[in-house]
Amino acid sequence: MKIAILNGSPRTGNTAAMVNAFAEGAKEAGHEVEILHVGRMKIAGCLACEYCHGKGEGTCIQKDDMVKVMPAYKEADMIVYASPIYYFDVTAQLAAAMQRVYAIGKPAKATKAALLLSSASPNPYGGAIATYKDMTAYLGLEDAGIFTIAGDAAACEDKLAEIRAFAKAL
Ligand SMILES: Cc1cc2nc3c(=O)[nH]c(=O)nc-3n(C[C@H](O)[C@H](O)[C@H](O)COP(=O)(O)O)c2cc1C
Repeated sequence: MKIAILNGSPRTGNTAAMVNAFAEGAKEAGHEVEILHVGRMKIAGCLACEYCHGKGEGTCIQKDDMVKVMPAYKEADMIVYASPIYYFDVTAQLAAAMQRVYAIGKPAKATKAALLLSSASPNPYGGAIATYKDMTAYLGLEDAGIFTIAGDAAACEDKLAEIRAFAKAL
């Protein structure tokens, strides 16, 4: 499978530890993994100009870093959304990347999704998980798994091992 991981964190920290654990497991199973660092990209919010659904024929009028993400939406068999929790939701960068799928409607090939969330406090995940579940249902993606780590992810070897094993079993 071709797996695209959209990492919404701007840092190399807890979310990256989860992403790397997932990528290691998936690669061990022979999957092709691409990590897109959307947290560090310049991706603006949708303008609702409808250029994409008219003259643009599936392309966005905004020529920003979303051009680096769009091929993954078109070619990946699985999309993994990863983010730190920022005020009870995914980061604004990841939210923008998720919403800009509007230009093509739905990912062309993807059938599965997963969610990796990191946070400082124990359970701020409700909003992010609700958005993810509604979004994946709307896009027709099967939720393969949701993983969360509160605090220092590098110190949670058991949880990282769980993520690695999950990805290896895909
Ligand atoms: C702007 C901002 C908002 C945050 N909001 C929350 C929050 O609502 N709940 C929480 O538990 N942690 C919150 N955090 C902490 C991060 O989610 C947490 O440190 C996370 O592990 C950081 O991931 P990273 O190492 O990939 O950057 C926030 C951090 C920042 C910078």
